[in-house]
Amino acid sequence: MKHIVKSWDDYQKIYQYSVEQPQAFWADIASEFQWKKSWDKVLEWNFSEPNVKWFQGGQLNITENCLDRHLESRGDQVAIIWEPNDPKDQEIKLTYKELHQKVSQFANVLKKQGVQKGDRVCLYMPMIPELAIAVLACARIGAVHSVVFAGFSANALADRINDAEAKLVITADGSFRGAKTIALKDITDDALSHTPCVETVIVVERTKQVCQMQEGRDYWWHEEVASVDADCPAETMDSEDMLFILYTSGSTGKPKGVVHTTAGYMVYTYYTFMNVFQYQEGDVYWCSADIGWITGHSYIIYGPLLAGATTVMSEGIPTWPDAGRYWATCDKYKVNQFYTAPTAIRALMAKGLEYVAPYRLDALKVIGSVGEPINEEAWEWYHKYIGKSQCPIVDTWWQTETGGMMISPIPNVTPLKPTFATLPLPGIQPCLVTQEGKEIEENGVEGLLCVKYPWPSMIRTTYGNHERCKQVYFSMFEGKYFTGDGCRRDEDGLYRIIGRVDDVINVSGHRLGTAEVENAINEHDAVVESAVIGYPHEIKGQGIFAFVIVNDEISEQKLQKELKELVVKEIGPIAKPDRLAIVSGLPKTRSGKIMRRILRKIASGEADQLGDLSTLLDPSIVEEIKSLV
Ligand code: WTA
Repeated sequence: MKHIVKSWDDYQKIYQYSVEQPQAFWADIASEFQWKKSWDKVLEWNFSEPNVKWFQGGQLNITENCLDRHLESRGDQVAIIWEPNDPKDQEIKLTYKELHQKVSQFANVLKKQGVQKGDRVCLYMPMIPELAIAVLACARIGAVHSVVFAGFSANALADRINDAEAKLVITADGSFRGAKTIALKDITDDALSHTPCVETVIVVERTKQVCQMQEGRDYWWHEEVASVDADCPAETMDSEDMLFILYTSGSTGKPKGVVHTTAGYMVYTYYTFMNVFQYQEGDVYWCSADIGWITGHSYIIYGPLLAGATTVMSEGIPTWPDAGRYWATCDKYKVNQFYTAPTAIRALMAKGLEYVAPYRLDALKVIGSVGEPINEEAWEWYHKYIGKSQCPIVDTWWQTETGGMMISPIPNVTPLKPTFATLPLPGIQPCLVTQEGKEIEENGVEGLLCVKYPWPSMIRTTYGNHERCKQVYFSMFEGKYFTGDGCRRDEDGLYRIIGRVDDVINVSGHRLGTAEVENAINEHDAVVESAVIGYPHEIKGQGIFAFVIVNDEISEQKLQKELKELVVKEIGPIAKPDRLAIVSGLPKTRSGKIMRRILRKIASGEADQLGDLSTLLDPSIVEEIKSLV
């Protein structure tokens, strides 16, 4: 592949080339793919509408590049290794040939059910091979996939189905999570009572638990695939045709559907996978994320398959049957590149080294981190005990909206510094700006992280509401994409992400809007008003703290229980508040705005650094809250 960075000298030269001749740079990489028709124009853009188009005039299908392109050279190589929830069960290995066949076959099922190019299909599934197959089958026929993490509640699922107007939903009877099973089909049925757009449901048999099948609407996956053949030519897609929607939380309102398109996303996920993991022929790569999040989309499915890699997909959880599961799996498959989240590292670190000791981890060459800031202690532990002080840690900073990794070390090439994502990948032009939007040129500073030039896999729009995309990302600072993150740049120009500066919180690497959680809490009859914030949490990174005003003589214990249940019902277990305090008022400005900054300080144990309180309507409320926390 072109532009694989192999030395520090390469990095400097390639980075410079990518800035001076960005279009030539990206065209070099794009030309490695199989196109049905080559592009006429590499890039057209403005950040004011915004309007960003890559490789216009080009035609292709991403699955031909993930699958067909490899059949001749590596048809019998394993594409996906699936590790089941229970280590006593048999793993599944699918070669590129087998995966191609299964994707084509399921694509024919979708067609048979009337799914056409441009239609939206919602996937609410466990981490089983059928999930990867279904994603690719959608792409094969040009349907837009919208994967919803299978930990979300029925209400959250219904919202996402309705927003995307999905006409078909794919789910399973149930899913295994450690020792538990979750009744996915029942949850889906609940959601479907509020989703008039859905015509068809396809159900994978996984747990074999009893579930209702509605005649004329619900079909079993295994029966359907048996009724079609395995030959499905790939639909011709324009470069900018929609590939998928993925819902993510923002500062306000309901989660928004981030839209990614075909060619740019393909070029970028491949390019970043190859550079950041330095994947070599024959390596086994494992990303422990869930395909319900962007990390799973880009770095379990698309990036690795575009590169012809062997990618591991695991169904289970890191602590079951015990806290050695990750290391046992690395050992079992001789994993060469391992990619996980800081919250998992912290949780496993807390369990002790006896869970690491039994396993051989010497195949590891690169270990990665994503999703939230990694604290120094976790970085050092990961480096020493998992990487045996030999493997570079790639602390990769990126977002659902960026589609792929943006700021990250390149292993054995660029410098490492604990807790720093370090340097932008070639092709990426980050900058720091002040609150007023002035770009900060010097080093040794802090600012708001923006990107000032387009990259191929950037967000194109928010589904059904382009204005929202413009407001959230492109209106804050003219001519720049605003990330929502605060960031430090040290004396050497290395970047360290500090965390969100908006009302988004990051709980165990899961992104949530404080407003979403507040809306759920406010549904309770006894609640007058609430304010939700994130506070430092040893394992989760951030915990959820809810401050609630009530109008009723309800017992505190009962309210705690009911509010937690309500949040689980409205969003899902990932959003359940860790702490809940009943207060008589909230710190508000005279204009009625809640000053969350004050709540954050108090909950973080920094009540002595509250700063200026003179704009508060009722400063006495601060004392009350301090005494409660
Ligand atoms: C945070 C996940 C520090 C950040 C791929 C970002 C990080 C948000 C890192 C996006 C990192 C992600 N260091 N913070 N290496 N990676 N973040 O959309 O706040 O789920 O804005 O995408 O996670 O979360 P999302």
